[in-house]
Amino acid sequence: MELNKIYNESNLDTMAKMPDCFVDVVITSPPYNIGANRLNSGKSKTYDEYNDELTKEEYFEQTKIWIDELLRVTKYHIFWNVQEISGNKGIVQFLLNTYSEQLKETFIWAKKNPQASIVEHMAGSAYEYIFCFSKDQPEKRSFTHCDFNNRVSGQQVYNCIIKPSNSNAETKGHSFAFDEWMPSYFIKHFSKEGDLIYDPFMGTGTTAKMAHIYKRRWIGSELSKEYVDLANKRIEPYLNQMSLF
Ligand SMILES: C[S@@+](CC[C@H](N)C(=O)[O-])C[C@H]1O[C@@H](n2cnc3c(N)ncnc32)[C@H](O)[C@@H]1O
Repeated sequence: MELNKIYNESNLDTMAKMPDCFVDVVITSPPYNIGANRLNSGKSKTYDEYNDELTKEEYFEQTKIWIDELLRVTKYHIFWNVQEISGNKGIVQFLLNTYSEQLKETFIWAKKNPQASIVEHMAGSAYEYIFCFSKDQPEKRSFTHCDFNNRVSGQQVYNCIIKPSNSNAETKGHSFAFDEWMPSYFIKHFSKEGDLIYDPFMGTGTTAKMAHIYKRRWIGSELSKEYVDLANKRIEPYLNQMSLF
């Protein structure tokens, strides 16, 4: 397979080309099933290519297919960013139950400027989850720091509650885009130089950009041609600056 490339296709088609354990680490944010197509107000661009308003059963089945295939192709960890909100409430808990053996860690991303509650008597959602899944018996690897396979000493050197401060100017207007801290944090702490990072929902290319900056190889899938073009434009200057691989 060609590396350092975003495949403009369904991630299941991309993964079908991958042998087992092909990628080292996955960092991704799947569709949340919150009706983002419908919510597109013209101010912020969301999705056009697929239905973000499946029934709960359909969304659960779809997500299981994605996670099963990711577990097959991933050698180490899968970092799965999701917010539990109205369109997917309950499903996230079903998923955790289904993958309780593979769930290795839960990170909470505490938002700097959370949206206020829009429903009376209900709290606003001020956080997102980043679940770390890996195979039942993942290959062990040690990092110089921040390794949760390596906590035998009882020391926890990283914090599961992350409070980032930065955001990206480049992807303003794309309400779903990762803030750059997110892929950066997991790339820095849970992968090594030269590792292959995969984002099966590449969107505007944030994972690819940060992987490249941190000298990792990368690969992505994205259904929308518009986002693939946008991501390629965003990554191009970095690829040109650093012909590393
Ligand atoms: C939450 S967004 C990801 C945003 C991304 N992290 C970024 O920084 O821009 C989810 C993306 O997944 C894409 N998508 C949805 N289903 C897909 C599939 N089966 N295969 C590949 N991409 C898909 C959507 O087009 C959308 O761009």
